[in-house]
Amino acid sequence: MTSSHQQLLDQAAQQVAQLTPRAAADPLRPRYHVATPAGWINDPNGPLWYDGAYHLFLQHTPAPRSGLKYWAHVVSQDLAHWEHWPLALAPEAHAGDGGGVWSGCCVLDGDTPTALYTGVMPEVQCLAVSHDGLRTFTKRPAGPVITTPPRSDLEGFRDPYVWREGDHWRMVIGSGIPRRGGAVLLYRSNDLHHWDYLGELCTGFGCNWECPLFFPLRAGDDTTWMLTVSPHDQVRYSIGTYRNDRFTPGPWLPLDLAGPRAFYAPNGLLDPRGRRIIWGWINCGHHPDSAWTGMLTLPRVLTLRPDGRLAITPAPELAALRGPQCDLPVNKLSPDQPVDFPNLHTTGHEIELVFNRQPAGVVAVHTGVTVAYDLQRQLLSIGYSTYDLPLLPDEDVIHLHIFRDRCVLEVYVNQRQVATCEISGHLGRVGDQPPGAQVFAREQAVALRAAHAWDLHDAF
Ligand code: FRU
Repeated sequence: MTSSHQQLLDQAAQQVAQLTPRAAADPLRPRYHVATPAGWINDPNGPLWYDGAYHLFLQHTPAPRSGLKYWAHVVSQDLAHWEHWPLALAPEAHAGDGGGVWSGCCVLDGDTPTALYTGVMPEVQCLAVSHDGLRTFTKRPAGPVITTPPRSDLEGFRDPYVWREGDHWRMVIGSGIPRRGGAVLLYRSNDLHHWDYLGELCTGFGCNWECPLFFPLRAGDDTTWMLTVSPHDQVRYSIGTYRNDRFTPGPWLPLDLAGPRAFYAPNGLLDPRGRRIIWGWINCGHHPDSAWTGMLTLPRVLTLRPDGRLAITPAPELAALRGPQCDLPVNKLSPDQPVDFPNLHTTGHEIELVFNRQPAGVVAVHTGVTVAYDLQRQLLSIGYSTYDLPLLPDEDVIHLHIFRDRCVLEVYVNQRQVATCEISGHLGRVGDQPPGAQVFAREQAVALRAAHAWDLHDAF
């Protein structure tokens, strides 16, 4: 006898419930980043603004390690506080996704939330709709909407991303073409069910591109397009031109300075305020007895600056998680004299430092690891990782915005770059994490313009 979709979801939910007390007791487990209560998560999927709330789905295995994939579901009204909703999609052989409900997107077809995602094995593109306000999904009775790739030799055929363009729908799918490299395939449809292949939107480096995201970015009267790809390596984006069904990329740049383990497979939406918001997957939480693995980054707002560069900032709504503000009691840091943030009591906090470019010493914050910006060499370091981060000629002031959530750090620099870092390797014995944070200078004194910190509340 085959189980109903609801039974499969209920069984998975029970497995997660059994793991939850152990996950909740883990002192490394983040408090204000999005994750499931327990079990494994990877990519963010199907972000959708619907009926006054942000809905976000997650690649999920109801076990501590990666396995058969489901879609988990979280909901927020303000991008800061989230609640868990019941699991949304489970794998079923008769629906074409028996090997896993892999990554995809959601769109509103009229008023009907519609998910498009990859079912495996083999890779096919599936569709499911919700008629009850995203509480449950019904898979398309006729099965997948695309059952065969446009050619037989592709390296991967997955992760549909769909948008409305004029009077029809468009979809990109991540792939790769032997001897040519990573590829994004472009399709067109009038009804989301019947798709025509329009060719390759773009091809390039690597062998296979996963999780393509493709959307317009507006600055003044200009519209350019941005493509991001997850090439089994550092996630890259390019801003370029989209004409005649082809994307001509500009330079390919990292979307996060970190490698693919700390930031991968981003997905995003256009919110009702016209903001492009993305989340990425942080692969963290691996220790032998952990009952959970992985979480998402904070929501990041992408905008095009007047100089054509991408700006990346944490969503301002995160301020809703803040406890009382702590100010550093000094405005000048002397070399090697650490100053504590008074009244900062947790390892889940936010720190904002603004300092002058001159004199060009090193500004360092210690929270689990040392985060430092070297003004002379223009390097950002987080623990053992170092990233080139050259300042622009007019950047006389540096803005470091750090989010620490137990074993994870996100460091935003000058509202245009970000590095995500998994720091559990630095934290010593599990649970052995002193709260609070210190700030210090090295080599030269540093003039501070602002130095604030906040303990942050739980997101769930
Ligand atoms: C990216 C990815 C996707 C795939 C999903 C499976 O991390 O490999 O290409 O759809 O994860 O979980």
